[in-house]
Amino acid sequence: MAQQENQPPRSLTEHFKHHDPARQGSAWDALWEDQFTPWDRGGPSWALHDLLKERADLFDPPNADSGAGRRKTALVPGCGRGHDVLLLSEFGYDVCGLEISPRALEEAKQVAAEAPRDDAGAGAGRGRVTFVSGDFFAGDWLRDAQAAGAVGDDGKFDLIFDYTFLCALHPSMRPRWAERMRELLAPGDRGRLVCLEFPSWDPAETGPGPAWSLPSHVYVAHLSQPGVAVPTDENGAVPGDYVPQQKSDGLERIVRLKPRRTHPAGAKDGDVQDRISVWKHRASE
Ligand SMILES: C[S@@+](CC[C@H](N)C(=O)[O-])C[C@H]1O[C@@H](n2cnc3c(N)ncnc32)[C@H](O)[C@@H]1O
Repeated sequence: MAQQENQPPRSLTEHFKHHDPARQGSAWDALWEDQFTPWDRGGPSWALHDLLKERADLFDPPNADSGAGRRKTALVPGCGRGHDVLLLSEFGYDVCGLEISPRALEEAKQVAAEAPRDDAGAGAGRGRVTFVSGDFFAGDWLRDAQAAGAVGDDGKFDLIFDYTFLCALHPSMRPRWAERMRELLAPGDRGRLVCLEFPSWDPAETGPGPAWSLPSHVYVAHLSQPGVAVPTDENGAVPGDYVPQQKSDGLERIVRLKPRRTHPAGAKDGDVQDRISVWKHRASE
């Protein structure tokens, strides 16, 4: 059924049903124009906050020199209103918030302008925030980010945070998502990809997305062999017993935790369903 003009869509699934999965920018922007943003949590991801605070052993200090006298850089693709961009900057990272929707970026800039200037990073000082407009899978935004000094000269980020970005993409985009993460993540032991894994529910229970179901083994299936098409069952789910081939140029998971706390959407009857995982390049360069 076609959506009536000026009417908010009934659901995200309905809204995206008729859009080409590889060209969804205008569809996202239309939702932002309609102010239909049911994914927005209204604040930062506490699971990320706690990870950075309590597992500092996994990350180099953000104000350590990352080349040319720079702080470490971070990327939040599909940053929405930018709550997690601000959180990472409070931890001392120079952060790039990327959005395909220009309207979302306007809102993110507004939120940033009104945010209190805290420093959560135990003396690291607050990092710079840069918002750029573009498609994660394209190259233009990276040039803009480089021109703004929001990414290292090598075009790589020291930390990338994915929350409700992968689950917003059609499952057919997942091999490309993993390839792009591999490309953008700083090489060797320098880069960390952090995924706040949501939603962990079974697609057979809830049907199609977005949000598309993402139990932990789906991240392993794609990130260990970026670009590879992963088999799915009749519900579009990656079988739980699927064993991916770890590629030497893939990413490897160094930690997977059940967060102490997360957004209410990621808990069921008070029990946290989300998981948080940290990844790095497998091959040292
Ligand atoms: C489900 S929302 C999540 C927003 C944000 N991460 C949050 O937690 O509020 C997904 C966001 O990704 C953006 N997006 C979708 N496809 C994108 C792409 N290819 N490149 C950049 N942003 C994209 C959408 O505009 C939307 O704001």
